[in-house]
Amino acid sequence: MRDANFIAENNAKHMWHPMSHAGEMRANPPKVIAKADGVHITDDQGHRVVDGVGGLWNVNLGYSCAPVKAAIAAQLDDLPYYSTFRGTTNPQVIELSYELAQFFAEDGLTRSFFTSGGSDSVEVALRLARQYHKLRGQPERVKFFALKKGYHGTHFGGASVNGNANFRRAYEPLLPGVTHLPAPWDYRNPWGLTDGAEIARRIAQDFEDEIAFQGADTIAAFIMEPVLGAGGVIVPHESLMPLMRKICDKHGILLIADEVITAFGRTGAWSGSRLWGVQPDLMCTAKAITNGYFPFGAVMIHEKLVETFETSKSAMAGVFSGYTYSGHPVGAAAALAALSEMKRLDVASNAAARGAEMLAGLQGLKDKHALVGDARGKGLMCCIELVSDRETKAPASKEAVAKVYEAAYSHGAMVRTSATNVIISPPLILSSADVQTIISALDAGLTAAA
Ligand SMILES: Cc1ncc(COP(=O)(O)O)c(C=O)c1O
Repeated sequence: MRDANFIAENNAKHMWHPMSHAGEMRANPPKVIAKADGVHITDDQGHRVVDGVGGLWNVNLGYSCAPVKAAIAAQLDDLPYYSTFRGTTNPQVIELSYELAQFFAEDGLTRSFFTSGGSDSVEVALRLARQYHKLRGQPERVKFFALKKGYHGTHFGGASVNGNANFRRAYEPLLPGVTHLPAPWDYRNPWGLTDGAEIARRIAQDFEDEIAFQGADTIAAFIMEPVLGAGGVIVPHESLMPLMRKICDKHGILLIADEVITAFGRTGAWSGSRLWGVQPDLMCTAKAITNGYFPFGAVMIHEKLVETFETSKSAMAGVFSGYTYSGHPVGAAAALAALSEMKRLDVASNAAARGAEMLAGLQGLKDKHALVGDARGKGLMCCIELVSDRETKAPASKEAVAKVYEAAYSHGAMVRTSATNVIISPPLILSSADVQTIISALDAGLTAAA
């Protein structure tokens, strides 16, 4: 390992960072996070803070999860890699598929297809949806519906169903045949409504209208995050997902739940679909499945799809998708240990309890600081949206957002800013004291930016 001067001198010089402008990163290099323990991270200057970001919504069990580390180390000794392409497999991935079928039994999901991360999981789910209809003799069902403000990763399929222009414009043209419905958002929506149930009803009505216009027999699937994450932690009304499920069923459209963030407890329920009492046809997972220690994901498949794929004699019935690292034994070993730890610690219950404290704290900040236009969240996915004028909801300046971020960091908490949103997604093992550290750091941040 080179010395600290070398690291500082070369920071952002020879790499382009994801979701960033390469020139801006050279001019203003990122913080170097050098160590982590529990729910804390420490930078190369020795400054230690509570990680309000949880890595990137993924380090749910924190940074000192010994069983996951031990499982990875042991697996590297036993079998560091072997392919799961047709003809070979490994014991860890067999056990993991069994455990996931138990874990997601309540969601009706009985099969897994393994990937290397969230974008892969979305890509596979979109493909399986089209293939399902082809195998059932409805080859024209190729279109997708999604929500504005939804985030579904960066592959071409995922970017096509993404509901944020930032992830689309530079890479267009994207997949044809994608329709976006309004975001289920009571703070900003096209109707000027604040009643979540009415907003949900309007979105469902728009969905029905579009289905009638386009033809149900042209539509493969509707994809949504149970709670929209990267788009600014938008919590739909509890009626939305059940309404969309009903419409999908009525018209033979598959429902894909993108649970890359929400699976494994973050919302306070073990899955976001379960939170809203819905069984999806396909569920995309990744991130916390290995506690973020190994790049890994799983598409979970509902029992309803199983017979079509497993008994079809069609030449198209094989799943001709997959990755070199699908079912990686080290990832599978990490996931087995992570699943066991998340259940042992009941992190979903802690996310619900600490999330309620966090949201109360954020609402207190809204009462105190005019810069906060909205405070929202579910479980341990929370957000404050910064505005320069509460009446008009005009966005806060870039400078104000940057001040909140820097001052919060110097006062003890890493948070994530995305446009004018300050997003909080800490490890699910957070304590009440850690919640208060994040709130008081944000309080200092908002004071500095006032
Ligand atoms: C809901 C959702 N889907 C997909 C993705 C993409 O996952 P990855 O970054 O692992 O490719 C993300 C990442 O944040 C996500 O939040």
